[in-house]
Amino acid sequence: KPIKPIPGPPGLPIVGNIFDMDHVTPLKTLEAFADQYGPIYKLRLGGRDNLILSSHELIHEACDEKRFAKQVAGALEEVRNGVGDGLFTAYPGEENWGIAHRVLIPAFGPLTIRGMFDEMADLANQLALKWARLPTGASIDASDDFTRLTLDTITLCAMGARFNSFYTQDQHPFVDAMVDFLIECGNRGRRLPAMNRIMTGTSEAYFKNIDLMKQVATDLLKERKDHPTDKKDLLNAMINGKDPQTGKGLSDETIVNNMITFLIAGHETTSGTLSFTMLNLLKNPRTYKLVQEEIDTVVGREPVNLEHLSKLPYTNAVIRETLRLSSPITAISVRPHPTENHEDPILLNGQYKLEKDQSMILLVKKMHLDPKVYGEDAAEFKPERMLDEPFNKLPPDAWKPFGNGMRACIGRPFAWQEMLLVLAVLFQNFDFYLADTNYQLAIKQNLTIKPKDFYMKGRLRHGLT
Ligand code: HEM
Repeated sequence: KPIKPIPGPPGLPIVGNIFDMDHVTPLKTLEAFADQYGPIYKLRLGGRDNLILSSHELIHEACDEKRFAKQVAGALEEVRNGVGDGLFTAYPGEENWGIAHRVLIPAFGPLTIRGMFDEMADLANQLALKWARLPTGASIDASDDFTRLTLDTITLCAMGARFNSFYTQDQHPFVDAMVDFLIECGNRGRRLPAMNRIMTGTSEAYFKNIDLMKQVATDLLKERKDHPTDKKDLLNAMINGKDPQTGKGLSDETIVNNMITFLIAGHETTSGTLSFTMLNLLKNPRTYKLVQEEIDTVVGREPVNLEHLSKLPYTNAVIRETLRLSSPITAISVRPHPTENHEDPILLNGQYKLEKDQSMILLVKKMHLDPKVYGEDAAEFKPERMLDEPFNKLPPDAWKPFGNGMRACIGRPFAWQEMLLVLAVLFQNFDFYLADTNYQLAIKQNLTIKPKDFYMKGRLRHGLT
């Protein structure tokens, strides 16, 4: 094939396309340009050319781990200022990634996650109790309460600490620091480095937020070291674990980096998915009814238990379909593998020329609408296409809300168990309504996305189970 030029908006000298971006919801710009320029286009941001990919064909090729590796650049490089060599932000090949990954794999495995069920249920029940005691007709700020829930769940299950977010008016100070930190990571990632150095006031707040998050994690680590337990959680795995390959353990600094990583990666994504799931179901009453019927049949009025969760195929498909349409992490980033040999020139699809360190942004959320995979009704919420049978026959890399290969999400079983459990508890106990029946989806974006200003109402179906 002849080499093809890669299209893209022209931009300005030096600053490139920064002024083309919607700074509140950059996703909007990325999606609009994909509509305009097609499945591969070029954007100059942060002083570099980035290729934005959004078709299944191109993303599938870019997911080949022999040729391409995770890229820590842009916003993610800025997240690294806060969480260093934690799993999420470690560079490909970084030694501490390998050690932490091997130490933590069993701690995130199905057996350990099943052992966390009771603590997850404790918090799901706290949420149900809060909603049961709201004044009649009160609106529920779904994103806010799901964030309280998922933050409390990850801190309790991973570190044995209670944030008790349902007992306080304001969110834990960690949440404010983290949200501001993540927004600023996005902004810094799009600016030129020199601009970041000039904006000293913004930088000061950014580094203060990092200090606060580090302090919270360091205090939790100290508490555990001062009062050791034999709890099977992530913190003990990190304190006591030795890498089977090198025999090395994790330093306190790497443990703190990973604790903050889990608090960040482990709750925004899960709470966003729960909010989108509720919204999708409320907007599609047919699917709402099917979830309700399934949970009534399988769980009934019994307290939800682990066995119930493996018998909810439709609810399972609803979460998969929500993650397709509304992947909370909308894009992942790769580059040609830094240490593998490459053909010269490096080509994508045999026709697009890549630089040796080419930044490529895989716009997964947009790919999830590729009509070649999902048909002409790809934009519609249809959980049936995500039941096991069709789901297992999807082409490779067609559904990627959890990322790619060895750098894919380590917390997937944790999140899945938590989400199924929460939906079971909520549907068992409440009927839900949109607070505003005309609500139109608007997106709130920082590192992840969630529905903006989404309020619902809940009415108890009977006494709390
Ligand atoms: C990585 C999505 C829940 C911890 C990732 C990645 C995605 C993702 C897309 C890859 C990021 C990249 O390539 O840059 C999600 C979604 C979740 C979820 C959609 C919920 C619905 C969780 C939970 C935890 C967690 C509950 C922790 C308890 C991590 C970590 C990584 C990661 C540590 C980095 C893994 C590595 O590179 O070794 N996640 N995640 N995630 N996630 Fe999740």
